[in-house]
Amino acid sequence: MDKLIIEGGIKLKGEVTVSGAKNAVLPIMAATLLTDCACIIKGVPDLRDTNTMIRILRSLGKGVEFDKGVLTITALKNTNCVADYKLVSTMRASFCVLGPLLGKLKKAKVSLPGGCIIGVRPVDLHLKGIRALGADIHIDSGYIFAKADKLKGAHIYLGGVYGSSVLATDNVMMAAVLASGRTVIEAAACEPEVVDLAEFLIKMGAKIKGHGTPIIEIEGVKHLHGATHTIIPDRVEAGTMILAALITKGDIFIKNVLLKHLGALIDKLEEAGASMRKEDNSIHVKYRKPLNAVNITTLPYPGFPTDMQAQMMSLMSITPGITIVTEKIYPDRFMHVAELNRMGAHIQREGPHAIVEGVRNLSGAPVMASDLRASASLALAGLAASGKTSISRIYHLERGYERIEEKLESLGARVRREKE
Ligand code: UD1
Repeated sequence: MDKLIIEGGIKLKGEVTVSGAKNAVLPIMAATLLTDCACIIKGVPDLRDTNTMIRILRSLGKGVEFDKGVLTITALKNTNCVADYKLVSTMRASFCVLGPLLGKLKKAKVSLPGGCIIGVRPVDLHLKGIRALGADIHIDSGYIFAKADKLKGAHIYLGGVYGSSVLATDNVMMAAVLASGRTVIEAAACEPEVVDLAEFLIKMGAKIKGHGTPIIEIEGVKHLHGATHTIIPDRVEAGTMILAALITKGDIFIKNVLLKHLGALIDKLEEAGASMRKEDNSIHVKYRKPLNAVNITTLPYPGFPTDMQAQMMSLMSITPGITIVTEKIYPDRFMHVAELNRMGAHIQREGPHAIVEGVRNLSGAPVMASDLRASASLALAGLAASGKTSISRIYHLERGYERIEEKLESLGARVRREKE
């Protein structure tokens, strides 16, 4: 296992280009299971998670080539309907092969993904939606066995205790596109990544309306064909780079950004007093003056994203004043709190809240990455801190940030990788 060493205290400066969105590409790759024709996906980030999904698709009988950000996915002869535990357990998004496998082959055996460090993460909404389409589902030996003679459109309410579910919406939408008749998903997730999947399915011949709103309507079709699609930019990477500029008091020009996907974050940062110049597909963030503390509450899109909570907490940890962070999607997603405190932050956890008292400086320390976004928050803290920070278990960061060291180095950061 590698660790990332950061010599902090350098103002980042320069230009950086955001990669394609991890959370968009994974379900889109799964959607190619719905056709035997070739699909071409462009702007694909070279990440640990993308490579895991390539292995899953290959294990399910797909031919996959990945070259310079372009995936070419074709069907081989022997289609397999079993998604194995070894692969699914390493990445929760792989559970979204269930919908397309069932839609296309009318049967699927998919390992349950299990929990992870940020919480229990059940799949009840996925199963509720897929059952409503007429599938028979049972669980045995850690696997979901799903089968249906025929899937039939249905009216499905998909809201859960914590609101809508991104991957459940994806899974049900993918199962419904080849079902007979009309499906309505109520309380659907509105995240841009769900919209990107719907756009891809439409290019494949699916009939979908209302994506991007809480009510998605799908008219089943008999077959889907191949399609070519370019993945949307990663809004979490863009947001992390914006915070990298602010936390290091730097000056970064960030390209390949869809500003409309960053509304909640930009609004909060403007409330905190940050100055940003917004252009069509880019944003220029230059630190000009100390920020004010602002409270944040994570919510489903278009609310403040849970995937930016940890990084925003790092910024607030050196912003004068008190910030209250409320986590409404994953009430246990606070593993970074203790690590930030090791670097000198003053943060107290109170159930689904964290109370952050801004300190003047952070100081470098050995810390441990617990999940993808927590690792990003520690990297941001390390960039701002005085002295050396070493982040263990850096493979978490590789799951979601393409060529991150290279990008940070190009902005002047002193980062290097070491074997643990
Ligand atoms: C996706 C994102 C992840 C992000 C999350 C919330 C991908 C690959 N991952 O994960 O980065 O943090 O959305 O924006 O796109 N829930 C249930 N029952 C279910 C499913 C979910 O109760 O069947 C709960 C979850 O535990 C959580 C909430 O619903 O509290 C939202 O989770 P969900 O939107 O499903 O997250 P994912 O789609 O897994």
